[in-house]
Amino acid sequence: MISPQTIQQITNRIDIIDVVGEFVKLKKRGANYLGLCPFHGEKTPSFTVSPAKEIYKCFGCGRSGNTIGFLMEHEKYSYVEALRWLAARYNIEVEETEVSDDVKLLQQAAESLHIINNFAQKFFTTQLFETDDGKDIALTYLQERGFKDEIIQKFQLGYNPAYGNVFAKAAIQQQYNSELLLKSGLVVNRNDELADNYRGRIIFPIHNNTGKIIGFGARVIGKADRAPKYINTPENEIYVKSKILYGSYFARQNIDRLDECLLVEGYTDVISLHQAGIENAVASGGTSLTVDQLRLIKKYTNNLTIIYDGDSAGIKAALRGLDMALEESLNVKLVLIPDNEDPDSYVNKVGTTAFKQFVADNKKDFVLFQLEVMLKDAGNDVSKKNDVVNQVAETLSKINRAEDFTKQQEYIRQCSSILRIDETGLTTLVNKYKRDRVAKDEKHRQAEENTIAAQDTAEGASEENVFLVNQDEPQERNILRVLLEYGLNKWDDDATMAQYIFNELEQFDFNNTDLEHLYNEYRKQYEAGLEPTVKKLLYHDEKIIRDLVVLITMFPYELSQRWDEKLENMNILNRDTSRQDVGRSVMFFKLKKLKRMCEENQQNMERSKNLHEQMQLMEIHRHLKNMEIELTKQIGTVIIK
Ligand code: UTP
Ligand code: MN
Repeated sequence: MISPQTIQQITNRIDIIDVVGEFVKLKKRGANYLGLCPFHGEKTPSFTVSPAKEIYKCFGCGRSGNTIGFLMEHEKYSYVEALRWLAARYNIEVEETEVSDDVKLLQQAAESLHIINNFAQKFFTTQLFETDDGKDIALTYLQERGFKDEIIQKFQLGYNPAYGNVFAKAAIQQQYNSELLLKSGLVVNRNDELADNYRGRIIFPIHNNTGKIIGFGARVIGKADRAPKYINTPENEIYVKSKILYGSYFARQNIDRLDECLLVEGYTDVISLHQAGIENAVASGGTSLTVDQLRLIKKYTNNLTIIYDGDSAGIKAALRGLDMALEESLNVKLVLIPDNEDPDSYVNKVGTTAFKQFVADNKKDFVLFQLEVMLKDAGNDVSKKNDVVNQVAETLSKINRAEDFTKQQEYIRQCSSILRIDETGLTTLVNKYKRDRVAKDEKHRQAEENTIAAQDTAEGASEENVFLVNQDEPQERNILRVLLEYGLNKWDDDATMAQYIFNELEQFDFNNTDLEHLYNEYRKQYEAGLEPTVKKLLYHDEKIIRDLVVLITMFPYELSQRWDEKLENMNILNRDTSRQDVGRSVMFFKLKKLKRMCEENQQNMERSKNLHEQMQLMEIHRHLKNMEIELTKQIGTVIIK
């Protein structure tokens, strides 16, 4: 966990214009800044940033949030990653709290591995460009394959010399811990000494999504006869193979922008495509796709195009994981490169335009492709063909989201035609698989539900609850709006607006537990002398608080049209309307609550069979009604000065 002090330091330094401006070209328009929305394609700018409120909002696509929210949305960072990014940008040292020893060790190991990898990458790149062997053997090889210096530098390729264990020696001289060096896979133990693991190989650094080097692929130069073609980093704290998509750091913005991810097999395929200006390509390393990898892709796009060479063993591996893609609602297309070429050699051969054209012309739907492959395998074997039908039905049953229904129907039509079977028969089979799974899931869910229910009550507000509307919500939200906006201003000589509100509402409860949570949090901070403001709460470490603050300040409920117009008029005259605003909001809140209490009281009266109790309830009723009348009168006669 990042310490509250650090978060405070970070949020104090945040300048939303500076941060958003890093990704979006902004122009000043009055009090706000305007630019082209980075989240949806548009030609006229509707993306507005308010430096005063520290909020952005796009009036085209409706997306909005604070600086951290922007980084989370645009860069797909987690909350903590966004904070770290900001800390790095403003040179703020991140202080950690409440970290268990285990976690600390893990973090330290991870951090050290990053440092070692960083050192190694620089070392290898220097070897490639600045030593005779590097230039003669490795760089020449890369250049012969058509890689230009610029792309070699962008992907930070390098060379580990064949002799002398020069890397191991340099690392030891830098006093890197030998255990960590071994863990990094950069060196191995040979005759009780640390020796280079990647000798005589070209080095491909592998970056995570934020550009940090998490490992390497090391390729032999030329043909691989005896040794393996690639040696890869072993799994360690930071190199987790199932979560890696090679090139994602360089491709992610383009995948987002082009709304399509191209998936190839190898490192060199990615680099060649990028060199050709096709910059939305990543590689899986030739293994079957994992859920983690699919989710990584889904952060940026729903459209996945797999481009493999026609007789790659990798195709089947890739297809294996793809039922998951259907469940994740990804649209998967497949393109096979002909004539023993792979994307790397093919793009070098035909050039960018022809390559793009080929991909566009040869996209096959992956479900239909899978069917073709299976049918070919089955040949004339009837029982195998039967298996294929079942397999297809099972695959199609995974398309389960409501919005994908038409897609499923279309598939059923096409597949039954290819299989030459009856369409309704296939539909029945698909539905059977669906039912089977639903039944299985239901059992599973029921088992889980009990535990979740227990957790829910323990944790209080769940995220989904935020937008649940209840009848008192407009009034409750409005109280929070004025509290956030004016809480620290003076109500009178003795009290602040916040104190006034707390006093007035002492006897009333909130209906919406999330809003109540925000109210209590504000009050807690206020009473601790922390002077809560929108700005501070926008960076609260609870997501629910951050979301609500954005919701409330960006989308205030209009309580009364006329009242708002009056306030607006006064605003134009530059009068301070905060007192009226707060006063009105408190009255509307109370009135609503009183009405609700009256209703409940009424119900109790109807239900009650005891005369004495009924008398009491009647008394309460009269009391409530009087208060209500009094309030209504006040509201009706409030004169806006
Ligand atoms: P390829 O054999 O297609 O390699 O393997 P490549 O990257 O296209 O290299 P070139 O073009 O022949 O130089 C595809 C991917 O499979 C993984 C690597 O990630 C490689 O990029 N692989 C392959 C290994 O991990 N180990 C190997 O021995 C071979
Ligand atoms: Mn290749």
